[in-house]
Amino acid sequence: MTMVPETTFADLSLADKTAVKKSSIIARRFSDVSTCSLSSTCFTGSSDEDEVSPKDNRQRNSSGSTDFCIKNINKSSFGRREIDIAESEMPGIISLRKRAYEEKPLKNANIVGCTHVNAQSAVLIETLVHLGASVRWAACNIYSTQNAVAAALAEAGVPIFAWRGETEEDFWWCLDKCIHKEGWQPNMILDDGGDATHLMLKKYPDYFKSIKGIVEESVTGVHRLYMLSKAGKLTVPAINVNDSVTKNKFDTFYTCRDSILDSLKRTTDIMFGGKQVVICGYGDVGKGCAQSLKGQGCIVYVTEVDPICALQAAMDGFRVVRLIEVIRDVDVVITATGNKNVITRDHMNRMKNGCILCNMGHSSSEIDVNSLHTPELIWERVRSQVDHIIWPDKRKIILLAEGRLVNLSCSTVSSFVVSVASSTQALALIELYSSPGRYKSDVYLLPKKMDEYVASLHLPTFEAHLTELSDEQAKFMGLNKAGPFKANYYRY
Ligand SMILES: NC(=O)c1ccc[n+]([C@@H]2O[C@H](COP(=O)([O-])OP(=O)(O)OC[C@H]3O[C@@H](n4cnc5c(N)ncnc54)[C@H](O)[C@@H]3O)[C@@H](O)[C@H]2O)c1
Repeated sequence: MTMVPETTFADLSLADKTAVKKSSIIARRFSDVSTCSLSSTCFTGSSDEDEVSPKDNRQRNSSGSTDFCIKNINKSSFGRREIDIAESEMPGIISLRKRAYEEKPLKNANIVGCTHVNAQSAVLIETLVHLGASVRWAACNIYSTQNAVAAALAEAGVPIFAWRGETEEDFWWCLDKCIHKEGWQPNMILDDGGDATHLMLKKYPDYFKSIKGIVEESVTGVHRLYMLSKAGKLTVPAINVNDSVTKNKFDTFYTCRDSILDSLKRTTDIMFGGKQVVICGYGDVGKGCAQSLKGQGCIVYVTEVDPICALQAAMDGFRVVRLIEVIRDVDVVITATGNKNVITRDHMNRMKNGCILCNMGHSSSEIDVNSLHTPELIWERVRSQVDHIIWPDKRKIILLAEGRLVNLSCSTVSSFVVSVASSTQALALIELYSSPGRYKSDVYLLPKKMDEYVASLHLPTFEAHLTELSDEQAKFMGLNKAGPFKANYYRY
């Protein structure tokens, strides 16, 4: 992993933090409302309009543009309200938008984006546009798109190709539409899962001649980038924002800690107290889930392959087990490994009647859902994103979101933590775009000072007052008073 010593994006002074203080404090009052950005209105979906595929329904926004493909452009005003609500709880990214507006650090950047399409990512997308970029966007997940938000973006002139419930074929079609457009040459990629990078490499390798950099958000996508780099096939610089501190410690951990309860509650109305839960994987996602379920009185088991994470789980008070030891007894099974086939058909054959099964990892192959498509099993759709899989002896398991990311499919993600991650993504794009020649064709971490800057953008919301080092203390610690305050190897 390559570290970058210096920060080049201007204006990263922590002293600027007071500038956002007032608006951020006001913004907090909206926190309850903002959580409906993936709310039941979107989650339950609608009925009649689901019949027509957006691909067969050419639409036009009020400016006459047809360069988008979404469910229903008429829902744009509802989506705009969702974006407004998200903005009010995303002080960091809005502050960045205001500060860099004049400078336009992304002027002439042509960004292909493949992320979840919801109110919070719309705030990021519109920030990139405010900072000078031209963007084309697709969803990285076929279930997590908020159709109304996609409509609002299309209405605002963003070429967006995304709707909730895309087929796999639709998914690749949408991504292709983003990447390939006559007269528009992409020069940056913002990816979440590596699919935009993958498709471009496979179908449009020549485009990489003009790509200045890739910013990747997910564990899975980062893994793919490192594999490319190892194979000598990565021809452009990339920033791994997934492993920046502000992403991992805030976005991943706090988002999952909040949203696992909401996901389970909305879909199953489960009462948590006393339920036995097994969580596969004790990384940041697993840790967040484990902490909140324990807080609700669940009996939590953890499975791990890594002795360090296993020891952490044990010392946090969780029983570390092999799945086979508990699979017959648990009420809820949650995967959070980023791995594949963690839950096999054999495990599902052993689960008790009514066991709830869901996945918090990026990849939809953590649970071997394909193995459930056999003639003796009956699939019964009981709610949107909730299937009962019924065995011949009437035993059933409750599968959420068909094994895809449950929190993004069935729940809300708090705008505030997304603001942290979005600020990181925006800064990474600016850094790669505005520093030609500075980075080689390798995978980099975001410079530490930028991580600190992202955190500082969010502190005013809490009326948090940072202590300043005295000259004497700074000298004693060997630090610059403005940061960075920790070495790159420091683990928070
Ligand atoms: N749901 C969300 O909102 C959200 C947010 C961030 C990341 N993610 C995704 O969740 C997944 C996990 O992310 P993370 O940041 O916690 O990753 P991580 O690498 O920190 O943690 C995953 C853990 O799973 C363990 N593991 C791997 N294979 C296993 C197996 N077969 N059985 C048990 N444990 C196993 C690993 O040792 C590791 O400790 C990734 O796919 C990531 O993209 C989801």
